[in-house]
Amino acid sequence: MSETIENANTPRVFVATWGCQMNEYDSAKMVDVLAKNRGATRVATPEEADIILLNTCSIREKAQEKVFSQLGRWKPLKDANPNLVIGVGGCVASQEGHVIRERAPFVDMVFGPQTLHRLPQMLDDVADNGAGIVDIAFPEIDKFDAMPAPRAEGATAFVSIMEGCSKYCSFCVVPYTRGEEISRPFDDVILEIAELAEQGVKEITLLGQNVNGYRGPMADGSICDLAMLVEFVAEFEGIERIRYTTSHPLEFSDALIEAYARVPKLANVLHLPVQSGSNAVLETMNRGYSVEHFIERIEKLRAVRPDISLSTDIIVGHPGEGAAEFEATMDLIERIGFDAAFSFIYSSRPGTPAADMADDEPRALKKQRLKRVQDRIAVFNRQLMTDMVGTTQRVLVERESKRGGGQMAGRTDSNRWVNFEGHPRMAGHFVEIEITEALDNSLRGRIKTHETVVEPLAPA
Ligand code: SAH
Ligand code: F3S
Repeated sequence: MSETIENANTPRVFVATWGCQMNEYDSAKMVDVLAKNRGATRVATPEEADIILLNTCSIREKAQEKVFSQLGRWKPLKDANPNLVIGVGGCVASQEGHVIRERAPFVDMVFGPQTLHRLPQMLDDVADNGAGIVDIAFPEIDKFDAMPAPRAEGATAFVSIMEGCSKYCSFCVVPYTRGEEISRPFDDVILEIAELAEQGVKEITLLGQNVNGYRGPMADGSICDLAMLVEFVAEFEGIERIRYTTSHPLEFSDALIEAYARVPKLANVLHLPVQSGSNAVLETMNRGYSVEHFIERIEKLRAVRPDISLSTDIIVGHPGEGAAEFEATMDLIERIGFDAAFSFIYSSRPGTPAADMADDEPRALKKQRLKRVQDRIAVFNRQLMTDMVGTTQRVLVERESKRGGGQMAGRTDSNRWVNFEGHPRMAGHFVEIEITEALDNSLRGRIKTHETVVEPLAPA
């Protein structure tokens, strides 16, 4: 559809992305917005770009300095080509704002996660006035309104359903950088999913900092929560698998658990960040739930989905975590048997409440703790993978395997990669695969041949 006539009106954009799926999603949207409004195309290196965007993340590291050193590396490109436009977006942009242009005056645009839809306008302003722009406001929902229609690439797609977070965990910058929780209207979400389904998408991941805090306004004035949304999405014939990320234990409602019972399309996997297994630490973290609440939720879920795969986020070394509190986290890992986790050493973020708390456990000790967490979870992961050998898994084939040689690769419900001998034509389709071998980070399998048993009709 898009013609590749290259001139000044069809700029080439390079986007460097740091951080999570949310940021990858935002980067894709930046390119979409510029593609729609300016005919822009995405390029793979900064050297070939007319516009360079840096989409930053500051959740777990001191990204500020990293931003300036990255910008320093791009400065020669700008010196050589004054028409090059450089923009900084994302969380660091919204935290630092004008400071970025003060320290790096050659930056043309600074924009926050909620203003990326205004990029075309910012580009015009830069071209007209030659002056820099800083636009890091939190305008309510109009980011979603201004987004171009989604373009599917392949059989899986992300759909953002809410933005921001109002939980204010002690350690976390998200509420300050992305603003308070705001849900996208139900009709908009459904329309986007309808368009994706029409383009052949089979798996939808509903995306947000706190997706189970979704409270989408509906046309009749009522509110749709995540459980209800999942049921609506499942109604689309083409959509055969539904995932969501990330959710919060506090809002892991009975209704959502019932959705697991009622909606087979809801993938048999849950990522539910717990952060700590100690009630004292959870309280210091302002997480709003107890270990008992978390366990109770999981037990209730397992009553309807006994073999569900469970993963989590864990922070070690948060202020207030001593040896006993850490052991409580190990006990919880043991009790739940998480088969995957993102685990991190606590990192103090300026402006968060935890930054003012005493943090005096030695770093070396925190590293040992992190390793214990990771080693234990690796064993549970290994167990899950070996238990899968001999089972048949429904795999959504995504692409040819990196291994080559006629191998295809796809993912199971539990988000594990499977390689198997197949045909490129299978990409974008669900295939039943018998798992034959568990490797460290992936599975091997073979296509299951079908025997169709025709049941005789029962007498009326
Ligand atoms: N909405 C998610 C969290 C998103 S942030 C939730 O419900 O918790 C992703 C993860 O980064 C968090 O779960 C946390 O484990 C980690 N994280 C956030 N801030 C951190 C910090 N200051 N230090 C270490 N890890 C952090
Ligand atoms: Fe951060 Fe806690 Fe929200 S970890 S994203 S403030 S739920």
